[in-house]
Amino acid sequence: MSNPLVDALAYVRQDFASGGIHTSPEVRMLMYSLCVGLRAKEVLELGFDQGYTTMALAASGAHVVGVDIAMTDLARTMVSGYPNCELVREEAEHFLVQAQDNFYDLVFVDDHHREDHVRSEAEMLRNKIKPGGIIVFHDVLFHSYIWTIIESVYSDWQKICLPCISLMLTDRDMGLGLVRRPL
Ligand SMILES: C[S@@+](CC[C@H](N)C(=O)[O-])C[C@H]1O[C@@H](n2cnc3c(N)ncnc32)[C@H](O)[C@@H]1O
Repeated sequence: MSNPLVDALAYVRQDFASGGIHTSPEVRMLMYSLCVGLRAKEVLELGFDQGYTTMALAASGAHVVGVDIAMTDLARTMVSGYPNCELVREEAEHFLVQAQDNFYDLVFVDDHHREDHVRSEAEMLRNKIKPGGIIVFHDVLFHSYIWTIIESVYSDWQKICLPCISLMLTDRDMGLGLVRRPL
């Protein structure tokens, strides 16, 4: 008989490419608030899954592009009321290779958490964000190497490592890492 907690943990770890868990409502509110506070015009989410955070980002009025290797009907429904939001089915690194430089005000990184993938995304994003823009990485405490990558790739930027405000399926803290490109 399967153990639901063990099944849930396997899901959280994202050992497979698709799936994962949604951000907590507080994280979505933080992302919405950052959009409003930055007066963000262009926002990118890498890994939208079912579109929960995407919807919060889109509610700010910014132009939001969500990128994910998988597309679901729920994600489409979630943002259907937001003409300012586009969902793109594409691998995140492929998307970033052709993305415009100095373009995004805010980026939320929550796709595959494999170490080499996160490092590569972090390096590519340095030039994609506008001066003064913010990149938020999810799960930096759950996968501690993510914060280590952030410290090395963004050694010259302002950084905050935040515990996640609420707990999800387990007593593990997911954590958020914020970096801000200097003006
Ligand atoms: C944790 S979920 C994202 C949760 C979502 N941000 C939210 O707030 O609810 C991770 C997502 O990343 C996607 N993903 C995994 N590897 C990817 C990759 N290389 N490129 C783009 N998306 C990827 C998965 O399909 C999955 O939907």
